[in-house]
Amino acid sequence: MNINVPEYVKGHQLIEGKSVLITAAAGAGIGFAAATKAVEEGCRAIVISDIHEGRLQKSVDKLKEETGLQQVYGKVANVVVEDDVQTLIDFSDQTMDGVDILINNAGLGTSKLLIEMEDEEWDKVINVTLNGTMRMTRYMMKVMKKRGSGVIVNNASVLGWRAQKEQAHYAAAKAGVMALTRCAALEAADFGVRINAVAPSIVLHPMLRKSASEELLAELEAKEAYGRAAEAWEVANVMMFLASDYSSYMTGEILSCSSQRG
Ligand SMILES: NC(=O)c1ccc[n+]([C@@H]2O[C@H](COP(=O)([O-])OP(=O)(O)OC[C@H]3O[C@@H](n4cnc5c(N)ncnc54)[C@H](O)[C@@H]3O)[C@@H](O)[C@H]2O)c1
Repeated sequence: MNINVPEYVKGHQLIEGKSVLITAAAGAGIGFAAATKAVEEGCRAIVISDIHEGRLQKSVDKLKEETGLQQVYGKVANVVVEDDVQTLIDFSDQTMDGVDILINNAGLGTSKLLIEMEDEEWDKVINVTLNGTMRMTRYMMKVMKKRGSGVIVNNASVLGWRAQKEQAHYAAAKAGVMALTRCAALEAADFGVRINAVAPSIVLHPMLRKSASEELLAELEAKEAYGRAAEAWEVANVMMFLASDYSSYMTGEILSCSSQRG
């Protein structure tokens, strides 16, 4: 079965007038799709960040051109480096007069059997995916606490729940992101901040197609009830729901964006 990709869903002003910060938003995947969606859903200003300087500037220009919003700012940051994280959040807070919504998109994966895994590879994936999300969440919570409001949306993965060969490091990191989301949400509720996460199954953007084998990709797509991978914008839609007031009674939740069985 192959359920066709539905028509692109146009904006409904879900986050009208809000300011948004998104990490890892200069790639071909969910981050940039979320940035585009945020503008289409009515945000008044947006900071997009990435570790890759060249692609970031191009992404800022592209976002401005495609959406017409001029309040689009780029800031290079590595989510693993505490100084970068604090500079990014302070910059966003000052430039946009407060950050209403943070989308923690940065995460990194490789494929390796556990018995062949070197510490270096394990640490790198845990560092970007889990520790990076923790650093962004920790400092953003401090800043949002002062204002007494804000929403954080983390990008997890169904692999935080499910087993897959060669993914022990990534799955452990994403399970960590889920636990972090739940615990941080409890603390943040005390000062009016909501924290949730989306758990996508698979989004086959061009970069991922380059790095994974055709066989594996075909297998993963076949596992989906829809027989296809998600479009990046379909995950971004779920992020917008979690970022908007439509999810005002949700915090500490992990929302699956998947059609996978079992
Ligand atoms: N693509 C999928 O199938 C899929 C499935 C489930 C979850 N996810 C998660 O979604 C998120 C986005 O992944 P994507 O595949 O859509 O790619 P993406 O294009 O959204 O993100 C890739 C970007 O991350 C940037 N980046 C890498 N390390 C960074 C760091 N240390 N600091 C800041 N930026 C960094 C890269 O430069 C690149 O531009 C990740 O957290 C990923 O784990 C992806």
